Amino acid sequence: MIAVSAGDDPADGWFPESVAAGYDGPGGANGAEAVTPVVDVLEGLADGPVLEFAVGTGRIAVPLAGRGVSVSGIELSRAMAARIPGRPGGDAVAVTIGDMTSTRVDGEFSLVYLVYNTISNVTTQDGQVEVFRNAAAHLRPGGLFLIEVGLPDLRRLPPGQDVVPFAISPDSGYVGFDQYDVATQEFTSNHVTVSPDGTGRFLRVPFRYAWPAEMDLMARIAGMRLKHRWADWDRSEFTATSTKHVSIWEK
Ligand SMILES: C[S@@+](CC[C@H](N)C(=O)[O-])C[C@H]1O[C@@H](n2cnc3c(N)ncnc32)[C@H](O)[C@@H]1O
Repeated sequence: MIAVSAGDDPADGWFPESVAAGYDGPGGANGAEAVTPVVDVLEGLADGPVLEFAVGTGRIAVPLAGRGVSVSGIELSRAMAARIPGRPGGDAVAVTIGDMTSTRVDGEFSLVYLVYNTISNVTTQDGQVEVFRNAAAHLRPGGLFLIEVGLPDLRRLPPGQDVVPFAISPDSGYVGFDQYDVATQEFTSNHVTVSPDGTGRFLRVPFRYAWPAEMDLMARIAGMRLKHRWADWDRSEFTATSTKHVSIWEK
């Protein structure tokens, strides 16, 4: 593990205090337009207690608990999880600090979910398989495992190029780009920030992408079968032009 900024706890991985402190800013992924459709779908799928892998600061778990669903969470970063009790209603979410590839919590769940691209934070195929196996181990027969994840932007890579920019903003001094290794399926998201005084910061975060079909095989290894694959939380059809998927496997 590396420390993102001085003073961060390396055990918190890529989401230490310096990241957690700014994670719950207004709008964007924290706005009602982003959160409500997710909570609506999860509430509809829940048929008993649910478990969020990589629960973070409770962005989704806390409003879902507010709907009357019993929600538990597993989270690697103490700095992220520490924000949950501070949210109104956050005390209702029981969090276990640990790695979602191996950490077990008591109970049997109707739904395990892993949203906001976080399967890609596990950077090996073996590790991602263990996430599927660990999800299945927490599910009762007929229980559901849901993943939300973006698709890699491989169709924007001409031969010989491995970089896809996603933000170039000279006015604010920010450049963001993904760099892919299509042989290993590893990629990095790169963030270059330059301050007006000329000092800068370069943050390079590692990920691994898996195509949906590979995830279906991971699910089968773990004793689950694909039940739904949508292009988004609106349950729209997943097609060749989709940029993300919401997939649900049944144990
Ligand atoms: C993008 S945030 C998503 C948090 C939350 N699910 C949400 O939707 O806001 C990713 C989270 O995954 C956590 N995480 C990354 N790898 C993990 C692992 N192997 N086990 C448990 N948590 C992990 C990070 O610490 C971080 O809190």
